[in-house]
Amino acid sequence: MTDVEAKESVRAQWTAHPCGTGDFLEGVEPESLAYFDRIRDQRYLMTDTWMPELIDFSAAKGKDLLEIGYGIGTDLVRWAEGGARVHGIDATPQHHRLASLNFELHGIDADLRVGDAAAIDYPDATFDMVYSNGVLHHTPETVRCIGEIWRVLKPGGRLLFTVYHRHSLYHWLNLVLYRGYLKGERKRLGWDGLLSTIEYGADGINLKPLVKLYTRQQLRWLLEDFSHCKIRTAHLTVDQLPGGRFLPKFLGPMLAGRFGWYLVADARK
Ligand SMILES: C[S@@+](CC[C@H](N)C(=O)[O-])C[C@H]1O[C@@H](n2cnc3c(N)ncnc32)[C@H](O)[C@@H]1O
Repeated sequence: MTDVEAKESVRAQWTAHPCGTGDFLEGVEPESLAYFDRIRDQRYLMTDTWMPELIDFSAAKGKDLLEIGYGIGTDLVRWAEGGARVHGIDATPQHHRLASLNFELHGIDADLRVGDAAAIDYPDATFDMVYSNGVLHHTPETVRCIGEIWRVLKPGGRLLFTVYHRHSLYHWLNLVLYRGYLKGERKRLGWDGLLSTIEYGADGINLKPLVKLYTRQQLRWLLEDFSHCKIRTAHLTVDQLPGGRFLPKFLGPMLAGRFGWYLVADARK
């Protein structure tokens, strides 16, 4: 896949299936306030309970925060409610439309733009904080994006972002061992195709968004110009694992800090 094809694969994925949507929305009026709030509750109360535990959404109170890849705006609304002046860029025009509507329905101001993290359309040293959840592993130009984030951060500014974790139980047990080898999906889709199917609605053939995985060490290399770099691991539930319904639920939170599906990086310029 060329870089241009990779970027198009990402736009196609999230134009077809806006981020955070899913079968749980059946019966909710699309694009209403209830729709956006249902997606928010699904995230913070059901699927990603680690987020409000690990991320202090009031940490940018009174400051300028840029979100890279805001999706439909779920987290950015939360940052705004926490008191930040919020700005965002996202590569998918459909997300720009939906996030703008989400903010309008909540009666909150935001500066939202369509744009690519590899060429951020803001002057140097504009932001106190840059935040990004589940985005920088969907671009072929992650290194360039980190350089751009460095440029738009003020000296001492904070970068907080998440990417998928290669050394997670979800990756090795579910994707590689169970689906890849035991179910033979690697042969049918290839590794890239199989990986892409972790995104809601992607089939690995017609919709095949670029998905990359990172190790802690790779993140440390990416962030070598930053200081105070802290990398944590989060998000593991037994449902992510083959035969998970037979496992005791407490195993998930117990192992999440080492083998969770997300790496959460926190660093200073
Ligand atoms: C998995 S979604 C995550 C959305 C949002 N952060 C969330 O947590 O719901 C990935 C998002 O990243 C955006 N994206 C992917 N590559 C990008 C890039 N190079 N620059 C800006 N946004 C990008 C996509 O359009 C999509 O909205």
